[in-house]
Amino acid sequence: MANNTDVNINDENAPQVPKHIAIIMDGNGRWARRRGMPRVAGHNAGMKALKEIVRICSDMGVKYLTVYAFSTENWKRPQDEVTGIFKIMVYYIQKELRELAEKNVRIRVLGNWDAIPEEAEKSMEHALAETEKNDGMVFNIALNYGGRTEITDAFRKIAAEAAAEGKSPEEFADSITEELIGSAMTTAGMPDPDMIIRTGGEMRLSNFLLWQCAYSEFIYTDVFWPDFDEKELKRCIEEFNSRHRRYGGL
Ligand code: FPP
Repeated sequence: MANNTDVNINDENAPQVPKHIAIIMDGNGRWARRRGMPRVAGHNAGMKALKEIVRICSDMGVKYLTVYAFSTENWKRPQDEVTGIFKIMVYYIQKELRELAEKNVRIRVLGNWDAIPEEAEKSMEHALAETEKNDGMVFNIALNYGGRTEITDAFRKIAAEAAAEGKSPEEFADSITEELIGSAMTTAGMPDPDMIIRTGGEMRLSNFLLWQCAYSEFIYTDVFWPDFDEKELKRCIEEFNSRHRRYGGL
């Protein structure tokens, strides 16, 4: 795949491109407020930034890009903002699908997205089907996603399967392993994120990828999401490369 950035994955002295990058795209509202614009204008600008970041990550050779597009808590926002976010989503998915497909990107959705507005659900279903056979970068969109809900759902799934198999309580307990829990998550089969970037200056995880973040490097930036660009992404990757990942060892 084309590698048109200066982060070189073939040179062993060059910074390594993380295999899985996850992003909490925060600061759209503040970006808009500073410009005297409505919050939805911030989400629209955020979507434009995302479009570029998807392209850049794919070109760089990132294997998985996961973005927090809408959390289980975001329903508490004013109705017009929620409606606006999903309208922007539908518009961009329709507009960008061809380019994503050409770039061999596979779109996946994490979360209970059957609860999102019908038009957005249909548009996502279409995007999933259209990119299903692509084997380039996996672009995970976390939609109506919450880490605790994901873990809870995974346990329900595991318990239901054990009951269907007629397992005794002891057999059930013995069967629980980290691998089994991981395989019941919506990210089953994917590597955990190497780094989680949060824009917008806040330093918290906000219920994102709670199970998967065990050894992720956290990178925070004050830049509001609509201003997050290639330069800032590369700065985050440099910071990631400066960290010494020990996974609990020495
Ligand atoms: C956080 O900024 C951003 C969101 C809650 C929504 C971001 C969603 C998009 C850019 C659309 C994504 C769509 C797809 C298909 C991936 P904020 O509103 O919390 O900002 P603030 O902290 O400044 O108020």
